[in-house]
Amino acid sequence: MKQAELVLDRRFEVGEADKRIFGSFVEHMGRTVYGGIYQPGLEASDEEGLRTDVLDLVRELQVPIVRYPGGNFISGYQWEDTVGPKKERPTRADSAWQSIETNEFGLNEFMSWCKKAGTEPMMAVNLGTRGADDAKNVLEYCNFPGGTYYSDLRRKHGVEAPHGVKVWCLGNEMDGPWQIGQKKPVEYGHLVSQTARLMKTVDPRIELVACGSSAYTMSTFGAWETGVLEECYNDVDYISLHAYFGKYTGDTGDFLACPVEMERYIRDAIAVCDSVGVRKHSRKKINLSFDEWNVNYHFRYPNAEPQEWRTWYLTSHCYEEFLMKASMKPPKKQRAFWTQAPRLSEDIYTMEDALAVGGMLIVLLRHADRVKIACQAQLVNVLAPIFTSDEGVMRQTIYYPYLHASRYGRGTVLDTRVQSPCYMSQIYGPVPCVDAVAILQPNGESLVILALNRDGKGTMLGCDLRQFEGWRVAEHIVLSDDDRLAVNTIENPDRVLPRTVTGEATLDGGKLSAKLKAYSWNVIRIEKSAE
Ligand code: AHR
Repeated sequence: MKQAELVLDRRFEVGEADKRIFGSFVEHMGRTVYGGIYQPGLEASDEEGLRTDVLDLVRELQVPIVRYPGGNFISGYQWEDTVGPKKERPTRADSAWQSIETNEFGLNEFMSWCKKAGTEPMMAVNLGTRGADDAKNVLEYCNFPGGTYYSDLRRKHGVEAPHGVKVWCLGNEMDGPWQIGQKKPVEYGHLVSQTARLMKTVDPRIELVACGSSAYTMSTFGAWETGVLEECYNDVDYISLHAYFGKYTGDTGDFLACPVEMERYIRDAIAVCDSVGVRKHSRKKINLSFDEWNVNYHFRYPNAEPQEWRTWYLTSHCYEEFLMKASMKPPKKQRAFWTQAPRLSEDIYTMEDALAVGGMLIVLLRHADRVKIACQAQLVNVLAPIFTSDEGVMRQTIYYPYLHASRYGRGTVLDTRVQSPCYMSQIYGPVPCVDAVAILQPNGESLVILALNRDGKGTMLGCDLRQFEGWRVAEHIVLSDDDRLAVNTIENPDRVLPRTVTGEATLDGGKLSAKLKAYSWNVIRIEKSAE
């Protein structure tokens, strides 16, 4: 059996994990909102039309922050359409997803949903078709106590107390050719600077996220961030990163290596931000908001909705490139466009997708010193851990690593080094079979190791834990399945489930030995023994 070793010292920390790295994303796209978090008339929905079955799972995940309302959708968003009496709200043609938007669910409904979900909103402003003035107005509507036009409008709409939204995204993927109102880096950076200054006059406590590249693979990555930050370094707090990974070669090993690329992306983004800071002789650091990340490829297969293909295909150069690389063709079937809540990007995730997601969560935690916000995209139905039908709701495979990381990833991330045998990925080069990160829980009496085995055989993981004398293995949770392509469905929601195993992880004489099953995600909890 292969052997891997974790090396850690409780005195060497990466830092406190910001709980907001376990965030998520709700966009007006497909069935995320309509049929996802909001579906009036269902037995499972409350008096506001909010699905309580979905709310239960969001609370179980303990999602700390949710980005809203887009995504590409934000670049044509007219926020004032979405507030006030529902009957008076206009129906609009949403050009981002070529869908009908009734605005039945709007800004105040989202804030109410956040309260019920126990989460914090992270709002985006439209810098595609709109600008600084509009950003200031929506902030005034949300955060100003009263006595001004927009704050009084909110009160007139029945919301007396300000929403107090702290984090604001300044546009979305403004480098992308598919984006409504795509911009040049200097142009966008200047707009961000002006917008940020104006917004901070209304509420100086807010935190602002400027758009970084929409993917690591964008040919402008690096140059974009430099150009933007040269203009707005002192005005913003974070730069965003977005990444979606797929099973491009069809090979499991290649696919499970994708967190390696996520890590390169993070390191390179930090280098670019810091190089601008150095040139500006600034002590300030720009932190990272990885506000869209996930596995995303199933929808591209032939049974996907052509609407989706059209949206991406007609507007985006990189998707043509992607198609060529992956030797894939868009599906031929046709259907009507401009419907409300079409089925877009409804990836049904496999067991191995859950492993890739686990690997990404390890990477995010390992960079907890600079990644302060991260949002898995998205929360419900669209590329999501939660999936609904009129009949019910289910936890997708990727739900579980998210749940474990959110539950056990809060605390002090230790500088965890992994010595592991490697395999060669065609796309990413040499990749360690095992990756892991250790987190000392806030009570200081529990150490959690999150570990991924990308190998097709079991691997023994060892770790010298003599610093934790007298501690014991309290629990070893494993997510694995003999069928790497197994999925959960509404009909069979518990096909892939994490299980607590006994006897596979031991701590004797300060030495941890854990057997990691082939292709598995593991949570090993080590606790101080009761005296
Ligand atoms: O999450 C789906 C879409 O992917 C978002 O709208 C966009 O920002 C990204 O390209």
